[in-house]
Amino acid sequence: MSETVKIILEGKEIELPVILGSEGEKAIDINKLRDLTGYITLDIGYKNTGATTSKITFLDGEEGILRHRGYSIEELADKCSFLEVSYLLLHGELPTEAQLKDFEDKISEHTLVNEGLEAMFKAFPTGSHPMGQLSSMISALSLFYPKSLNPHRDEDAINRTVIRLLAKMPTICAMIYKKRHGHPIVFPRNNMDYVTNYLNMTFGQVTEPDYTPDPVIVSAMNKLLILHADHEQNCSASTVRMVGSSQSNLYSSISAGINALWGPLHGGANQEVLEMLEQIKEDGGDVEKWINKAKDKNDSFRLMGFGHRVYKNFDPRAKIIKKACDDVLEKLGVSDPILEIAKKLEETALNDPYFVERKLFPNVDFYSGIIYRALGFPTDFFTVLFALGRLPGWISQWQEMRREKQPIARPRQIYTGEAPRPFVAMKDR
Ligand code: CMC
Repeated sequence: MSETVKIILEGKEIELPVILGSEGEKAIDINKLRDLTGYITLDIGYKNTGATTSKITFLDGEEGILRHRGYSIEELADKCSFLEVSYLLLHGELPTEAQLKDFEDKISEHTLVNEGLEAMFKAFPTGSHPMGQLSSMISALSLFYPKSLNPHRDEDAINRTVIRLLAKMPTICAMIYKKRHGHPIVFPRNNMDYVTNYLNMTFGQVTEPDYTPDPVIVSAMNKLLILHADHEQNCSASTVRMVGSSQSNLYSSISAGINALWGPLHGGANQEVLEMLEQIKEDGGDVEKWINKAKDKNDSFRLMGFGHRVYKNFDPRAKIIKKACDDVLEKLGVSDPILEIAKKLEETALNDPYFVERKLFPNVDFYSGIIYRALGFPTDFFTVLFALGRLPGWISQWQEMRREKQPIARPRQIYTGEAPRPFVAMKDR
């Protein structure tokens, strides 16, 4: 017999079902709680609330485990291409050689962006934040493909939108980079693999048709994209699901996810980490001083790239990125004083009771910026790279929500404002 819990409210006992996940995770199903008792649960920031069941990603924050569709992130990052992992997230299984080729070919057919979209893009002010440009461009895609907006259309139409998004995202990200440098746009090259094509559109020049990115850079970029590909019900994925739950189209749901990612407590942390490390360096490199600032409750400064809502152990992605960071800097012969500050900061924090007691460890964003910088990306572009990696995860979350016909996401609240009172005329206020 399945497990239940009993709750006694105002002397009345009710029994609620317990839901068991495939990894032993437990939840109390409160779907009927309000109907049965008139009570709701209050959980600001959703610290204890499961918003959905999901078959995509498993995360054990206490043990530092991350798996997609059952496969460990360590193996995926080591053995797969980014598109292979994207296929896995979207379809639930690793692709065969033929399936992967078909997936790659379809993506290659849709890499160009409409000239009208490009004209709109050109009107964005120079110097505007890359994340604002990215979310606007993804939202604007919906204007160019009106027929594929309805999430109730057949699977083929939805699949075309999925392919279009995966295909156009690297082109758009590269356009944003080129605009920042005042360089002409490099068109996609469909004979290149996904990551090489993206790097070519970013760092290649129209005048250099034979440019090929360094394999070390291609491999690091591939790994970084995989490490960001999905992370279950985080702020941006939940945003994508929430927006999508109103049956809004996939482009606008993804655009909303990009905006959620932009914030410094989420994906925007990678930009903040590098700015913080620069600041510490310019201030003389006194790591202890900055650790003390982070611990001081009267100081708003936080150690960016540290701490996580779910991980109370090492973020497994941070471990892989730290190693990749060492490899990339060594292979490219880059010596970055910022890396030394980062390592000292990590060591000091990990031995400080404040961070130990609160289980604050480096997260995915702590070292990624150092690699991005070594690869030649400007600081305010880092979160765009996070978004490029996260795209297949967001789409998979949206698809799962849609296929399961989940209801519109609409939380309740406990009202704590004024009781009813008589209107006060203007002259009496
Ligand atoms: N520096 C100093 N103190 C911290 C930090 C930090 N980075 N993170 C958490 N704390 C303290 C916090 O002050 C609180 O202390 P106390 O219990 O004394 O009040 C305690 O640790 C718990 O923190 P919280 O803010 O209640 O935890 P949360 O789950 O609401 O927030 C977080 C998680 C990631 C927003 C937070 O750790 C943070 O602000 N970190 C820095 C920003 C960052 O690196 N974000 C990237 C997250 S990973 C990428 C992604 O997937 O988004």
